[in-house]
Amino acid sequence: MRPKVYITRRIPDNALGKIADLCDVEMWQHEDIPVPRHVLEEKIEHVDGLYCLLTETIDEHLLNRAKNLKAISNMAVGYNNINVQAATKRGVMVTNTPGVLTETTADLTFALLMATARRIVEASDFLRQGSWKTWSPMLLTGQDIFGATMGIVGLGRIGEALAKRAKGFDMRVLYYNRSRKEEAEKELGLEYVELPALLSQSDYVCVMVPYSPETRNLIGKDELALMKKSAILINTARGGIVDEAALYTALKDGTLWAAGLDVFEEEPVKPDHPLLSLPNIVTLPHIGSASINTRIRMSELATFNLLQALTGEAPEHLVNR
Ligand code: DGY
Repeated sequence: MRPKVYITRRIPDNALGKIADLCDVEMWQHEDIPVPRHVLEEKIEHVDGLYCLLTETIDEHLLNRAKNLKAISNMAVGYNNINVQAATKRGVMVTNTPGVLTETTADLTFALLMATARRIVEASDFLRQGSWKTWSPMLLTGQDIFGATMGIVGLGRIGEALAKRAKGFDMRVLYYNRSRKEEAEKELGLEYVELPALLSQSDYVCVMVPYSPETRNLIGKDELALMKKSAILINTARGGIVDEAALYTALKDGTLWAAGLDVFEEEPVKPDHPLLSLPNIVTLPHIGSASINTRIRMSELATFNLLQALTGEAPEHLVNR
């Protein structure tokens, strides 16, 4: 019997073809509209495998409806959208797509850092709006990147890739992590510090930890208060790690110089969200891994993971513990 699979969004043809070779596939046909919850609830009842995105909440309620489900393949490295514990309890394998998006996400993180530090978006808008009258000494001046101190909160694969980029800009790089990474310290010249020291010494604080109940609001009012007035906060991990209300206050009061966010607590963020009204913030619609090649690689790795799980092989990228 061929396994039944539901795919929650239109995925690239190559990835789809490989699944269709071995499984009976149904796919939500839209590229830019997430599958409605009631559709997912109905589909999950009959399938052996689910191929989903970070936009789908795979919670206990949904899993209770899944009578035959054996595997969930998330097309993302982060899997906070899935209740892994509940899946494990039901014997459902959960996989993710680590590795293939590391460099692309580090590129975007550094690009966001540079855009925020040098006010690129604001300067471009200024020009397009016809406000540019003359070159002037302090017009649209930002912060230097070369030689500054970067603090990386969470030194996983992407954090390390970001550190490499920072070293190319002669930055001093501090990091805080659950455990020390002595090899990376030696290889990249990184310095381990506790979180308060990282926050108070860094010119750029880059949030790179996975989202979990432990990291929820990890950067809140007290943590922001430790940062330099001239510092910049960058978050390309997950929205809930930074307390958005506290960040708004810090940016508005000028106790923090600027922020660059690729992620939000609620996505898509509403256009009238208070953070979006501030001039000293650069905001992006969760595009960290959005290069053509990387998104194709992610779709193929998610396919590979799903097929491994459904054909009885031990999936390489299993996240159940
Ligand atoms: C992930 O993979 O977790 C990113 O947030 C999207 O690429």
